[in-house]
Parts: sequence; structure tokens; C-alpha cells
Amino acid sequence: MLNLDLSNVSPFLPAGWRTGEEKGLEKAHRHLLEGTGAGSDFLGWVRLPADYDKIEFARIQKAAEKIRSDSQALVVIGIGGSYLGARAVIETLTSNNYNLTRKDSPAIYFAGNGLSADALNEVIDLVKDVDFSVNVISKSGTTTEPAVAFRIFKALLEEKYSKEGARGRIYATTDAKRGALKGLADSEGYEEFVVPDAVGGRYSVLTAVGLLPIAAAGIDITALMAGAAQAMEQLAVPGMDNPAWQYAAARHALYQSGKKVEILAGYEPAFRFFAEWWKQLYGESEGKEGRGLFPASVEFTADLHSMGQYIQQGERLMFETVICFDRARTKISIPNDPENVDGLNFLSGKGLDFVAEQALRGIILAHVDGGVPNILLTVPGRDERSLGELIYFFEFACGLSGYLLEVNPFDQPGVEAYKNNMYALLGKPGYEKQKAELEKRLGG
Ligand code: PA5
Repeated sequence: MLNLDLSNVSPFLPAGWRTGEEKGLEKAHRHLLEGTGAGSDFLGWVRLPADYDKIEFARIQKAAEKIRSDSQALVVIGIGGSYLGARAVIETLTSNNYNLTRKDSPAIYFAGNGLSADALNEVIDLVKDVDFSVNVISKSGTTTEPAVAFRIFKALLEEKYSKEGARGRIYATTDAKRGALKGLADSEGYEEFVVPDAVGGRYSVLTAVGLLPIAAAGIDITALMAGAAQAMEQLAVPGMDNPAWQYAAARHALYQSGKKVEILAGYEPAFRFFAEWWKQLYGESEGKEGRGLFPASVEFTADLHSMGQYIQQGERLMFETVICFDRARTKISIPNDPENVDGLNFLSGKGLDFVAEQALRGIILAHVDGGVPNILLTVPGRDERSLGELIYFFEFACGLSGYLLEVNPFDQPGVEAYKNNMYALLGKPGYEKQKAELEKRLGG
């Protein structure tokens, strides 16, 4: 079970702050469970851990087994919500060096999440001489970055295995009925998986979007879903004992008190991409109508030697949410040095986990003394069940938070602005007038 500690938040807020949030939370909770709020067409994730498509789930497991048996590498093509969840789970549960440490699993390369020719060429070089498969993931099927990358890897597969051979190595995860990728997958006969209509990109990690790459990495997706289902049952109960209510209440009250930035602080390098997933979840859900906490992340203790100075003494605009995994998977004992050159013999024989624990305790107190409220979230372990729980916890709390802020937590209208400018500047048909205006502004 996750454990949320708010003892280092309350001193920064007026007495009775929890009570002040209760009414809003009751309403937000009803919006999520009864579909009475803005964006209610996108609540498919709320019951997903129990109500997922079991037949498709079995197909995902079968496809993952096939990939594991016939591919040394899997290229996962997608961006934003069609990318971050899979990478977050794979790295958190294995390592940020997954491709170096994996044993019987294929290497996993992520592509189509940017426009760097160098990055794309690097993945091409890494896979061209090994057996590989491709999982292209795009709900709309029209997002430029993954569409461009897919053209390239499709051609590479067809050249290497023939059109027919490539067909057996391409897995398309997209809308059930609409879109360019859906049309292509149907006409080419690729194996298809569905991004459910009622699940937006940033809430889609527990659908085929995340589950196929995660299963291909050898991770137990049944246990992941079981952890999420456990959280779903727990968080469906309204009231101030609900940890998602507590987290949403604390961050909302801190925001109202003037904090503008929430920093997610992790202590495991493997957790880095989970923080990226979390940033998208909260950034896209809350950052609109001139409102919303800015979600940032740091990795301790490394970032104490870079961002630590600012956190301790810079502008007092942030609070921290610290993620602590309760158990380290492995142990390292600090050796004795007869010369004691570094003066660290007082630590001889102690485990590194002991040092890390004292560091965490000391850092929290230092930051609190520096005026940074701290939320501490302890996660039982770096295992599938715990991570499933954590994913659902953050999703549910994010829905509550968006409604507390009185925004639609399930749309992202601002994402279109850059796309429209890019299409215009690239000369996409239909954008001629906008192109001329932009070129003029750019002095072209
Ligand atoms: O959260 C979102 O909706 C976005 O991040 C999308 O997931 C992202 O833009 C990719 O979209 P698509 O899956 O349609 O290619």
C-alpha cells in the first residue's frame, strides 16, 4: 500500500486547510465516478483496471511473446501519451540502462518522439542488422513525429523482410474505427490493438498503448493491472482518508497559498521516466486557462548538486512531492579503508540504503527549513503491483486536482498551436494563408 505523509505540508497552510478542500473534493469525486464534469467523455480510465478488454489483453500477451521470440529489438514509435507511459514503466521496473542490463528480452528503442534526424538515424543503425519488430502507437494516426518515423521503419522492415515478412513484425496501436493509421493497418493487415475512445493519451498507459511494449520487456502486466485495480477500489471510497483526496487537497491548498511549481523528487535513476510521464499527466491536465501548477522533476541526490541550491534558497515558489521506494532490491555495504583518507570509516560496514535513508530524512528537513513544503509518498517496492497502484493513484488524484482547479482535466487544446504553425510553415495544403502570415512575422 502507498503511504502518504503530509506532516511537512500542514505547517505551511492555515489551520483547517483540509476542511476547506472537502466540498470541492466531494464534487470532483462525483464528477470522476458519475461523469458529471467537463471532459466526461474521457473517463474510460477510471474503471479500466477492472473493466479492460480481457480478449485483447490475452492478444497483447501473445504478441509480446512473439516479439520476444522473433526479435532482438523492438522499436516503439509514439509521442506524448503514446510514448511516456511505456518507457516510464519499463525503466522504473527494470533500469534506465534496460538495453544494457536485459537478459532474455529484446532491446527496446523509442522513436518518433521528436524530430531529431541524428536520434532517428541512431535507432536505424542499432536495429538494421538485427531481427526487429515495430509497435507504432498513435491514437489519431496523424501526429507528424511518429508518422514520419513509421514511414522510415516500415520501409526498413519491408526492405529487410519483404512486404509480407514485414507485415508479421508490425503492430499498430490506434483508434478502433478512425484515422490514417487505422486505415493503413487495415489495408496492410497488421495486427491491431486499440486505444479506447474514452481514454486520452496521458491516461492510456494501462491500455495496449503501454501494455504491449511493457509486456515485450518481460514485465508481468497482470500484476501491474492487479496493483491498479487495488488502488481503484481503495480510491473509489470518498472522504478525507482517501490518499488521492489528501494529495489533491494538499497540492490545491499549496497552489492557492501561492506555490506555483510542484517538483517530483525521486531517488532512483530508474524512476526518471516515470517523472516524465507524471509531468505530462499533470501538465496537460491542469495547465490551461492561465492556471495550474508547473510540474517539474529532480533526481536526488544527483540534482542536489545542481538544483539543490535553488530549491534551498531560490524563489519560494515550489513544493516537493518526494517518492521513496521502501525497499532497495540489492544491497551494497561500505568497505573499510585502513587509511581512512576520506574520513568515512564511521560508515564502514553500513549499507548504502542506510546512507540513502538518512540523506532523504535530512534533505526533507533542510528543504522544509528553507520554506519548501514536502509531501512524502512511500511506495512499497519497485515491483509491478506497486507501480500499478502508483499509476492509478496519480491518475485519480490528477482528475480530482483538475476539477478542484475548475478546468477540464481531459483536454489539451494548447497542444494544437505549435502543430498548426508547423503545418503552415511546412506548406501543408490548406494552410496557405497562415503560412504567409507566419513567414511575414518571421521576416521571410
Ligand atoms: O496526451 C495526449 O493526448 C497527447 O500527448 C497525445 O498522446 C500525443 O500528442 C500523441 O497523439 P497520438 O496518439 O494521436 O499520435
